[in-house]
Amino acid sequence: MNRKRIIAGNWKMNLTQESAKELMKDVIKWTPKNLPNDVDVVVCVPFTLLSTVHAMTKNTRIKLGAQNMSWAEKGAFTGEISSEQLIEQGVTHVIIGHSERREMFNETCETVNKKIKTALKNNLTPIFCIGESEQQFEKGETNTVVSRQTKNGLEGLTDDEIKKVIIAYEPIWAIGTGKTASKEDAQKVIAFIREQLPKGVKDIIPILYGGSMNAQNAKELLDQIDIDGGLIGGASLKAHDFLCVAGSCI
Ligand code: PGA
Repeated sequence: MNRKRIIAGNWKMNLTQESAKELMKDVIKWTPKNLPNDVDVVVCVPFTLLSTVHAMTKNTRIKLGAQNMSWAEKGAFTGEISSEQLIEQGVTHVIIGHSERREMFNETCETVNKKIKTALKNNLTPIFCIGESEQQFEKGETNTVVSRQTKNGLEGLTDDEIKKVIIAYEPIWAIGTGKTASKEDAQKVIAFIREQLPKGVKDIIPILYGGSMNAQNAKELLDQIDIDGGLIGGASLKAHDFLCVAGSCI
């Protein structure tokens, strides 16, 4: 099954106008000659950098993503941002339910589900994040956790809607820690997540791995049959590292 492969950078709360431009200059220069045709590169940047990065990427193959959005369409939601506002900035993808938002900003499976629905309604592609904590991993609860998160996050969506979602499996203990899941474990969990999806969509949806993916370990992870790409945090902040990851999708 030839699924689209995706390398998505998650800049988190990093970079300012000048450093973002520097980084994007290198990424843009590299892409036309080196990025395989079936691979999408997405950069998920802070809200304040959307317009700058969009101006640089709009005639390139690089797609623009945000890191969060509101489930509401508009109105009295101080500090929130809507799909319409993101789309106006050139955004096509949006990370939803990142573990940092679930753990530190009280996002629940219910708000994640609402956000995915709002994103899809507005034609934004959700990058829907799931993954177990270290404690859950150690107790052997990974499958229970990811299957619950998958089911709750996608609840009420039709198969046609689910087809438009990208899932990112990110074990929380691997995020920003330098401790990557082994290629065997990452493959096993991602294959299991795929099995939780409805029959008509499970072979179509791209599922990414995230958690300390970098220039050194990307190739062996991306070579796994069910791993369709990566959600890259730390390594997306350095052009060389990010491009090594993207270039590992051969
Ligand atoms: P990391 O972050 O690559 O720095 O571990 C991944 C993520 O949080 O999306």
